[in-house]
Amino acid sequence: MTDAPRPEDPSWHSDDPHLSGVFTPVAREVDVADLTVVAGRIPEDLSGAYMRNGPNPLFQPLSYTYPLDGDGMIHAVYFDNGRARYRNRFVETRELTVERRAGHAVWGGLMAPRPIDPALLEPGAAASPFKNGAFISVLAHGGHLLALGEAEAAYEMTMELETVGEWTAGTESPLPIGAHNRHHPTTGDLFAIAYDPGSPDVQVRRIDPSGRLADNFAVRLPASSMIHDFVLTEKHVVLLVGPAIFDFEAAQRGGPILAWRPELGTTIAVMELDGSAPTMLEAEPFFVYHFANGFERGGSIVIDYVRHPEFSLGPDGDDGAPHLHRLVLDPATHRVRDIPLADFSTEFPRVNDRLEARATRFVYVPRLTGSLTRGPHPSATFNTIVKVDTESGTALAHDLGEKVAGEPVFIPKPGASAEDDGYLAVFATDPTAMTSDLVLLDATDPSREPVAVIRMPQRVPQGLHGTWIGR
Ligand SMILES: [Fe+2]
Repeated sequence: MTDAPRPEDPSWHSDDPHLSGVFTPVAREVDVADLTVVAGRIPEDLSGAYMRNGPNPLFQPLSYTYPLDGDGMIHAVYFDNGRARYRNRFVETRELTVERRAGHAVWGGLMAPRPIDPALLEPGAAASPFKNGAFISVLAHGGHLLALGEAEAAYEMTMELETVGEWTAGTESPLPIGAHNRHHPTTGDLFAIAYDPGSPDVQVRRIDPSGRLADNFAVRLPASSMIHDFVLTEKHVVLLVGPAIFDFEAAQRGGPILAWRPELGTTIAVMELDGSAPTMLEAEPFFVYHFANGFERGGSIVIDYVRHPEFSLGPDGDDGAPHLHRLVLDPATHRVRDIPLADFSTEFPRVNDRLEARATRFVYVPRLTGSLTRGPHPSATFNTIVKVDTESGTALAHDLGEKVAGEPVFIPKPGASAEDDGYLAVFATDPTAMTSDLVLLDATDPSREPVAVIRMPQRVPQGLHGTWIGR
C-alpha cells in the first residue's frame, strides 16, 4: 500500500478494513470532463450515465459497521459521443448537514447508537439515534433519481448529483423504502419494501410510473427481521426472510441489535401483486442480502440469489462463503427446491435490468481469485467479473488481477434484443497505485479484452450498488 496521501484522501485515518485501503472514503468532490481512455475505446453510441453509491463517511466515525454506516456518495460517469466525464457528490442528508455544522461525527453508528443533542438539530427535528446515510444504492424511476438507504426515506438527486431532499413519492411526508426496488415489466410500476426494526410488519409499496405511491400493503412476519432485498415476478411479490432478528432487549444489555436465530428457519411469503392470497412457505435457515432476479416458470417461481449459510456483520463477520443459488418455489404444493449455480464465493449479483421480473439466463457476479495477491481482503473484495449461464452451467470470467472491483452493472447496447447484448460496467482500483478505472466489458463474452478502460480523475472507493441511466 502506498502511504503518500492523495488529494482525495480524508484528513482522518482508520484501521477498520472497510475504511482503509481501497475502501478509504474520499473527501473531495470533483468534476472532470473528457476522461482519459487507457485501453480500448468508448463506444460512440453509448449515451447515458453509470452511477454508483457507497458508504463514504465525511467525518471520522464514532463507530463503524460495514455496510450499514456512512454517508452516501455517488460517483457518476456520463457518456456521450465516445467521450466520458466524471462527477462525484455527497448525498447531503439532514444528518450530514448537522455533522457539517458540528464539524465532526454526531451519530454513533448502527451498533453503537448514542443520544443526539437536540441543540445540534433544526428546531422541531426528530432526534433519532439512527442516521439515514442514503448510501446503499442509486436508482432512477419516473424522472426521479434516488439515493437509497435501508428502509429509510430516499433522497432525490438531480442528474448532476445535487441533493434535492427527501423523496415523498407524491405523499405528504418522506416515504421510507429499501435500497433494492424492482420494476414491473409490463406496468412500469416500481415495487419497494420497507421493514421496521420495531415491528414484524413489512410494508410493500407500489409506486406508479410517474413516481407516485399508488398502493401499500403490510405483510406480517413471525418476527421483526432484516430484509435487504426482495423478489418481484410478473405475478408475485416474494419476501424471503432469513432469521436475522432485531433484538432491542439484547442491544440494551450491550449485545448485538441483530441476532441470528437459526431455530426459527427461513420464512418465504409469496403473494399477489396487491398483497392478496399470501402463501407462507418454510425452509431451513439461510440468509439473503441480494437477489439477482425472479420469474414465473409454469406454476413455479424461479429465484436466482446469493445464499449465505448464516447472517453476520462487521469486520470479523465470516458467514461461510456466500454462493450463487437458484430457488424453485411451488406455492401450490409448498415445495421449495434449492440448486447451487456456481462453485465459487460471490455477492452483488446482477442481470440485464430490462428483463427484471422476467426470465433471465445470465447472471453477472464478482468473485475473488488468487491473482489478487495484495491484501487485506475484507468482505466485498473482488477482482474478477463472471458471467454465469444458468442454463448450461458454464461461466466466462474476466480476471482483473491485482485490481479490486465490485458489482458489475449491465448496460444494454442501443437497439439490443439479445439478453446479453451490452456491456458490464465496474470500477476497478489498483491497491498499490491507488488509482481507479471504470472498466467496460463485453457482456456477450467478458473474458475478452475490455471494450474500454477509462481512468478516473481520483480514486473511487470500493462501494455498493450502481445503475445505468440511458438517454
Ligand atoms: Fe444491497
